Amino acid sequence: MANNAVIIGTGSYLPSRVVTNQDLEAEIDTTDEWIRTRTGIRQRYIASDNEPNSYLAVKASEHALNMAGVRPSELDLIIVGTLTPDMPMPSVACLVQKELGALKAGAFDLSATCSGFLYGLAVADKFVRDNRKMKVLVIGSEVLSRRVNWEDRTTCVLFGDGAGAAVVTGTRDRRGILSTHLHADGRLWEFLTIKALGTACPITPEILDKGWQYIEMSGRDVFKNAVRALEAVTWEAIKTNGWTSDDVDLLICHQANMRILDYLRERLGLPEEKVFINIHKYGNTSAASIPIALDEANRSGRLKPGMNLLMVSFGGGFTWGAVAMEW
Ligand code: ACO
Repeated sequence: MANNAVIIGTGSYLPSRVVTNQDLEAEIDTTDEWIRTRTGIRQRYIASDNEPNSYLAVKASEHALNMAGVRPSELDLIIVGTLTPDMPMPSVACLVQKELGALKAGAFDLSATCSGFLYGLAVADKFVRDNRKMKVLVIGSEVLSRRVNWEDRTTCVLFGDGAGAAVVTGTRDRRGILSTHLHADGRLWEFLTIKALGTACPITPEILDKGWQYIEMSGRDVFKNAVRALEAVTWEAIKTNGWTSDDVDLLICHQANMRILDYLRERLGLPEEKVFINIHKYGNTSAASIPIALDEANRSGRLKPGMNLLMVSFGGGFTWGAVAMEW
């Protein structure tokens, strides 16, 4: 009998400082009205100097482990999807492993930008299908505020910090993760990038002056590609499972922009209550956005056993993907 992967606990954590659109109005040439109508965002959470990525990731993980009733010492694997690690070495996953005391667990970071959590779930799914006793902690965690140019109004209003986590293990029941769908198109990398701080580009005063240590985005190109890819991967997941869009009980899409979410909802013909929205509270938290939304949907009772859940993501790379589940 086949093994299936189920999520037995979810958790999330936001830093304590809230920055509203009105706060940004006081700092840069923008308006609450512009931000709300273009993106749906009203506020975002910003980490303080003593809250690195691993701090948020540990807090979210503790909540997920508590819900799952799993001790850190029982974990076999920790996967962190992130584009804003504490440092290049070690990984956030190793820092989380140390902090939790999960000393039996292997640990690695996964670089798939906003799709990091779904890519991580796909990896966890494969391990658990091999060995249903495995317990895998999958985290999406970001401190994007450190990689945003706070003088660039075209990007800084969009992003926020936060973390979400899920504990995955195996079952013989026919439920849990039904299918995973991963895609990428590296040819389009320049539309959404942080050019410096890696090995391609020396860290010189000239480079820092150009702002290459910050997120650069061609908003319209990202928008065009995001709607196309998200719609395609959503139908791919629906068809793979023999569903129609009516069979989707809850859609959790990466919270990048309200207009992208509206577009997807209309193309699928889904009623508003089937599409989870929390972008107004958090902005775009990249890899953290889906696990934060998943935790909110789970804890608020919006997700119920037996429901068909579809999670879809899109981000820099470009990467995109979907995970279909029976909850
Ligand atoms: N406040 C006020 N005005 C602004 C701001 C701002 N914060 N930002 C830009 N503007 C101005 C521009 O300067 C421009 O002015 P101009 O016409 O005088 O030149 C005008 O507003 C329109 O700018 P556009 O870039 O054309 O605005 P657009 O309607 O395309 O919206 C946005 C921009 C919101 C970024 C949109 O392109 C978008 O949502 N793109 C997708 C972005 C996204 O989702 N990225 C993340 C996905 S992947 C991931 O999550 C990492």
